[in-house]
Amino acid sequence: MVLDIGAGPGGLLGRLAARRPDLSLTGLDLSPDMVALAQRSATAPAIRFEVADVAALPRPDHSADVIVSTLSAHEWPEPDRAAAELTRVLRPGGRLLIYDFRFARLRELTGALAERCDVQRRALHPLSLFTCLSAPVGCL
Ligand SMILES: C[S@@+](CC[C@H](N)C(=O)[O-])C[C@H]1O[C@@H](n2cnc3c(N)ncnc32)[C@H](O)[C@@H]1O
Repeated sequence: MVLDIGAGPGGLLGRLAARRPDLSLTGLDLSPDMVALAQRSATAPAIRFEVADVAALPRPDHSADVIVSTLSAHEWPEPDRAAAELTRVLRPGGRLLIYDFRFARLRELTGALAERCDVQRRALHPLSLFTCLSAPVGCL
């Protein structure tokens, strides 16, 4: 099970589904309009989209193998709650990948994740506009 948090119009999951039709893919987004757009544009019937806040993920503990998020984390108003939810929902040994603008203020989120797992922050390229927070979860 792969979760995309702040999935927006759902393009990432569409590309993932084209490469890996065996995966169960769900996009969650705070905006009902975005979820409706993603549902209309979905390229694979196996992709699901739901309205949800990263601060209160409607998923059981340890139910996701991978959680990914692109260009959404800078909009999360409660980084500590987000970190608690992301690490609660990921299974032990799962992987969290958060991509965002390199200059986004991710210090609070990085700190909150670091209290819970071995998070690493890296630029994708020395001159990149983007950065990635990467963490294997299960090291609580
Ligand atoms: C800039 S868009 C990025 C969309 C997509 N991930 C992409 O890369 O194209 C940010 C998305 O994050 C969503 N978002 C913002 N705050 C959120 C929250 N607290 N929980 C879930 N989604 C959120 C917004 O509704 C929006 O669709």
